[in-house]
Amino acid sequence: MIAMAMKSWKAGLPLERTELPTPEPRAKEVRVAVHAIGVNPVDWKMRQGGPLGLAARLVRVFRGPRGPVIIGVDFAGVIDAVGAKVSSGGLAVGTRVVGGTNFARGQHGSYADTVVVRPDQVTPLPDNVAYDVAGALPVAGVTAWMSMHEFRKIEPGRRALVLGASGGVGQFAVQIAKHVCKADLVAGVCSGKNVEFVKGLGADVVLDYGAGDALEQARAHGPFDVVVDCAGGYKASRCRGLLAKGGRHVMVAGDSPGAMIQVVVPPFRSRAILGAPTTARLRGLVEAVGAGLVKVNIAERLPLVEAEAAHQKSQTGRMTGKIVLLAR
Ligand SMILES: NC(=O)c1ccc[n+]([C@@H]2O[C@H](COP(=O)([O-])OP(=O)(O)OC[C@H]3O[C@@H](n4cnc5c(N)ncnc54)[C@H](OP(=O)(O)O)[C@@H]3O)[C@@H](O)[C@H]2O)c1
Repeated sequence: MIAMAMKSWKAGLPLERTELPTPEPRAKEVRVAVHAIGVNPVDWKMRQGGPLGLAARLVRVFRGPRGPVIIGVDFAGVIDAVGAKVSSGGLAVGTRVVGGTNFARGQHGSYADTVVVRPDQVTPLPDNVAYDVAGALPVAGVTAWMSMHEFRKIEPGRRALVLGASGGVGQFAVQIAKHVCKADLVAGVCSGKNVEFVKGLGADVVLDYGAGDALEQARAHGPFDVVVDCAGGYKASRCRGLLAKGGRHVMVAGDSPGAMIQVVVPPFRSRAILGAPTTARLRGLVEAVGAGLVKVNIAERLPLVEAEAAHQKSQTGRMTGKIVLLAR
């Protein structure tokens, strides 16, 4: 198989085209011929050291596979081999699937033309959802899905505020809140150049953070049942100040130790999130995409071998839409 891999977890190493033996699935695993891979900030953050790099390094020491380090989580493709003890989930050779790899299970990442995962990490794809669209979904889409369902459930009569509404996670969060959860009001915060774009996603109110204090602007449209911070840099106590009774502040972009402390700060209304793709979490999301309720905006498709260029673009923090790598 071909992968874009680093020689080790040492910070700053390049991603290199690497040929490895194609793995065989164990009894309770499936092998997927990967077509498309979504790029997420976590992919390049892991390469830089820092808290995510350190966590990945520790996992690797205790559980990780030997050999070069393959990063990445998102993938969409077709099952081409099934372990002898896989019996559930309608998974067979030829089933089109979307899913996420899991470092904590000792697996390689998804920047490859082949991945091996367990059945509870994939969901079959509806015929009308293309591989590139599906490949963009797992981490960003599942994180957005969890934000609207797993802390304070968004439903008719409730309001959601999305900070960073034009980004990979934010775009899904706005659409899920409005079109799947049927929130009464969805407010999105983005830069001036993306205001029309975020309105097009279905936001009732779009606030330009360049036009003044975004949280102060949002106050007129609250209180909110959920305030989802996909941008980072917004003070947690001020976000909590916009919450309705029972509401939750969800820190998506909260991978700094300072942000984590907010979870244990009274009145315990901030939550950290880990958008781990699982069958159950992906299912509703994939159905919503298949039904046309949630659209996937792909900013750029690049061949897998251009993963390094994809990371440079993602690191600008200014992409409006997902970058997808094509593996075949
Ligand atoms: N916890 C988890 O499981 C999880 C999962 C996925 C992502 N994340 C993290 O969440 C963050 C966002 O990920 P992403 O994939 O959405 O990244 P992204 O696609 O790069 O989007 C980030 C967006 O933030 C916007 N932005 C920048 N400054 C802003 C501000 N002051 N106010 C509002 N918006 C602002 C930018 O839009 P404009 O150009 O309009 O400013 C940009 O589109 C990253 O830190 C990522 O690591 C965490």
